Amino acid sequence: ARPFIVAIDGPAGAGKSTVSKVLARRLGFALVDTGAIYRSVALKARREGLAFDDDEKLGELLSRVRISFQVVGEDNHVFLDGEDVSGEIRTPENSMAASQVSSRPVVRAGLLSLQRRLALGAPKGAILEGRDIGTVVFPDADAKFFLEADPDTRARRRFEELFQKGVERSLEEVLADQIKRDQDDASRAVAPLKPAEDAMRLDSTSMPLSEVVRILEQTILERM
Ligand code: C5P
Repeated sequence: ARPFIVAIDGPAGAGKSTVSKVLARRLGFALVDTGAIYRSVALKARREGLAFDDDEKLGELLSRVRISFQVVGEDNHVFLDGEDVSGEIRTPENSMAASQVSSRPVVRAGLLSLQRRLALGAPKGAILEGRDIGTVVFPDADAKFFLEADPDTRARRRFEELFQKGVERSLEEVLADQIKRDQDDASRAVAPLKPAEDAMRLDSTSMPLSEVVRILEQTILERM
C-alpha cells in the first residue's frame, strides 16, 4: 500500500512549518517542505544569474538540479546539488525570488515528480507542506489541511523566526514582504494559493500552534 499522504497548505507564516515538523516527528512520517524546494531552485537561478522569467534557461536548470532532504538533529535540512543551503534559502531576497520563480509553469511542472517521489518513497507516511499540495500535487491525499491566521499574526510569527535566526528585519518590512508574496501566490495563473474543497480549514490567530498540532494529529490518526 502507498504511504499515508498528508497535505498542509496555507499562506506564509500560518504555522505550516512548525506544525508539520512536530507532526512528522510524532507520527514517524517523512516531511517534504515544498517551499524549500522552490527556494532552492530560486537560489540556484540567482547564483547563475538567470532572469526569473527565462523559461528556457529555467527548464534547463531544472533538468540538472539535485534537491534532497536529510534530518540533521531536530531539523529537516535541504541540500542543493549536495550543499546544505537550509539557511541561505531563507533570506528575504531569496524568499521573493522563490515566489517569482514558482509562478513559472515550467518550474511547477518540473518539480511535480520530485515532490511526489519524495512523498511516495516514505515507508509509513509523508507530510507535504506548501501552497498547492491538496489541489495539484496530491489531489487524492488522505488528509488535507489549510492553515490560516490573520496577516499581523503571521507577520509577527515570521518576524520572531527570522529574529531568532539573526536576520535583521523590521516587523514592518516582514509584513510588507508577506503581503506582496501572498498577493503574488494567490493571483498567479498556475496553482494559485487556495484551499482544496475537501480541506479542513484551521485559523490559528487565537489558537496556539500546539492546539493545531493536536487537532491535525487526531484527524490523521482517525483516518489511518
Ligand atoms: O513556504 P515557503 O514560504 O518556504 O515558500 C516559498 C515560496 O515558494 C512561496 O512564497 C511560494 O511562492 C512558493 N511555493 C509554491 N508552492 C508550494 C510551496 C511554495 O509556489 N507548494
